[in-house]
Amino acid sequence: MLPLVDKPLIQYGVEEAIHSGIQNIVIITGRGKSAIEDHFDVSFELEHLLETRNKKDLLATVRNISDMIDVAYIRQREALGLGHAVLRARAIVGSEPFAVVLSDDVIDAEIPCLRQLLDVYEFFGAPVVALMEVPPEAISAYGVVDAEPVSHNGCRDRLYRIRNMVEKPRKEDAPSNLAIIGRYVLTPEIFDSLEMIEAGTLGEIQLTDGLKHLLRNRPIYGYKFEGTRYDAGDKLGFLKATVEFALRRDDLGGPFREYLKTLNLQDQTVGKATEHA
Ligand code: G1P
Repeated sequence: MLPLVDKPLIQYGVEEAIHSGIQNIVIITGRGKSAIEDHFDVSFELEHLLETRNKKDLLATVRNISDMIDVAYIRQREALGLGHAVLRARAIVGSEPFAVVLSDDVIDAEIPCLRQLLDVYEFFGAPVVALMEVPPEAISAYGVVDAEPVSHNGCRDRLYRIRNMVEKPRKEDAPSNLAIIGRYVLTPEIFDSLEMIEAGTLGEIQLTDGLKHLLRNRPIYGYKFEGTRYDAGDKLGFLKATVEFALRRDDLGGPFREYLKTLNLQDQTVGKATEHA
């Protein structure tokens, strides 16, 4: 629910799914996260208040959120890993392909990242994960793939067929610099794989391990998406996303840019608390 400029992170994820053509959303929540359900729900009290005060713009924003989607919520009672969270959705997803969005990866792209993956899925009919090159010192924070490039749409450096993958390897054990980013298009066979695997890294059921298990029977692709990804789960990544998203806003960009210009960033004391006599 952390707001990026003025919308919670999860809303960016939901909007990306909607703009990619997805209509049914399942949100996996847990204890203490009921604010998410309220956010996407109709807020009668707030709508009534805004109506009586004639705040039309705000009223439209509030209505947009609740009109946007048909959401189901499933609770993950214990935080036993991403794979475990995905498995919670088995009954509701049934036997259809589905996508997974991790909202702390915020992706700014002309064509939504999930749409780019869906295009690959529609061509090959096989699971696809989002990939990004990351520097060696950061690689151990990710699922990492061993993959060979595949020509697609006249391009040889975006699509990969995955040979193997490993969750959060040590820098020296990483099979490549291609990290999995939080967007996946999956087929329902993943659920059987997730049921079969043991807990892995951090004692959790990892989605990467489930995909590695599925690789024995199914080709899986990776797509180096076009766009900029911000790791909003990291403090510095969150700050970068906040500044860049604010600068791009029609209503805020101008005055915010002017404000930033007034900061003397060469001066190391800017932003540090100063003592007043
Ligand atoms: C999760 C996945 C990891 C992936 C990452 C992308 O890790 O387990 O494979 O590379 O998201 O953000 P987490 O960031 O939850 O530790």
